[in-house]
Amino acid sequence: TPRVFSGIQPSGNLHLGNYLGALKRFADWQERGTETIYCMVDLHAITVWQDPADLRRATRELCAGFIASGIDPEKSILINQSQVPEHAQLAWVFNCVARMGWMGRMTQWKDKTAGKNAEAASLGLFAYPSLMAADILVYHATHVPVGEDQKQHLELTRDIATKFNHDYGVDFFPLTEPVIEGAATRVMSLRDGSKKMSKSDPSDASRINLTDDADTIAKKIRKAKTDPEPLPSEAKGLEDRPEARNLVNIFAALNNQTVDQVLADFGGRPFSEFKPALADLAVAQLSPVSTEMSRLMDNQDEIDRILTRGAERAREITAPILKKTYEIVGMVGPV
Ligand code: TYM
Repeated sequence: TPRVFSGIQPSGNLHLGNYLGALKRFADWQERGTETIYCMVDLHAITVWQDPADLRRATRELCAGFIASGIDPEKSILINQSQVPEHAQLAWVFNCVARMGWMGRMTQWKDKTAGKNAEAASLGLFAYPSLMAADILVYHATHVPVGEDQKQHLELTRDIATKFNHDYGVDFFPLTEPVIEGAATRVMSLRDGSKKMSKSDPSDASRINLTDDADTIAKKIRKAKTDPEPLPSEAKGLEDRPEARNLVNIFAALNNQTVDQVLADFGGRPFSEFKPALADLAVAQLSPVSTEMSRLMDNQDEIDRILTRGAERAREITAPILKKTYEIVGMVGPV
């Protein structure tokens, strides 16, 4: 039976890329009735420095973001990674299965250390993908919805499962399917169509934050970089127009349409007409999310209770899988 797992780092602003590439997809899976487990990955966040008070706030805000995006803590299991200790425990086993060379080939590792002294990066940052594999495999999850930037990490997850099964002569960990689907698997910066929208971009105008108010959202879209041509009437006309393509992809994803459907409506029309329509759509979809997030943030006890309960439910799944893993590896345990 399918079991879905995915995670998001509590490290600053949730943005439109996280919403369209991840949160909205997570809610779709939940509504299809699949077993769904969603995680704030605080242990991943600390692979780079996090101020403790900021981390606590970001974790609770992320939990509010999940719920405001439609994740129902009754239907899905909603957890904070550090509260389910089996993630870190399995990660240690995987640190001994995975090879240094595999980690060194990860493009995110290379990007994060590019132009810097890699010797000064944390050991946790290097081992990041091993913990991510543990997040997924400690549930025997079969499907992992993510944006395109996580593809290589999910391939590594399969490599770790394969090597573990092979080394110990078992058929224990499943080969997980990455699910990278929809029109917005890679939302780009509003200021530069060649860079992905990201939490860490110094320009706030480059992204739409889930906490932005309606005026801010409308203004950022109005000011988004474009070219002077009207919209094409077919998707192939977007090939060499990264900024135009990005805005059309965003529209399609927000409106649950295909790119072709959007272009059937807007092909031949100028950005001066398309942008206000996009702004209206974005505000209509995102302002309820931001209102609900701030309402939830006023009730942090409730958030903490949800996470405590989520961890209890999660451990019913993870404790037996970790126990079995330890047995396979040869650890002596309680009888
Ligand atoms: P993170 O926190 O960077 O991003 C969370 C999710 O948002 C997606 N995403 C985007 N999608 C489209 N366009 C964008 N511009 C964009 N930016 C981010 C990401 O692809 C991701 O799906 N390593 C993960 C967290 C993680 C995880 C896991 C994910 C830890 N363990 C296990 C899945 C399964 C990360 O840093 O995501």
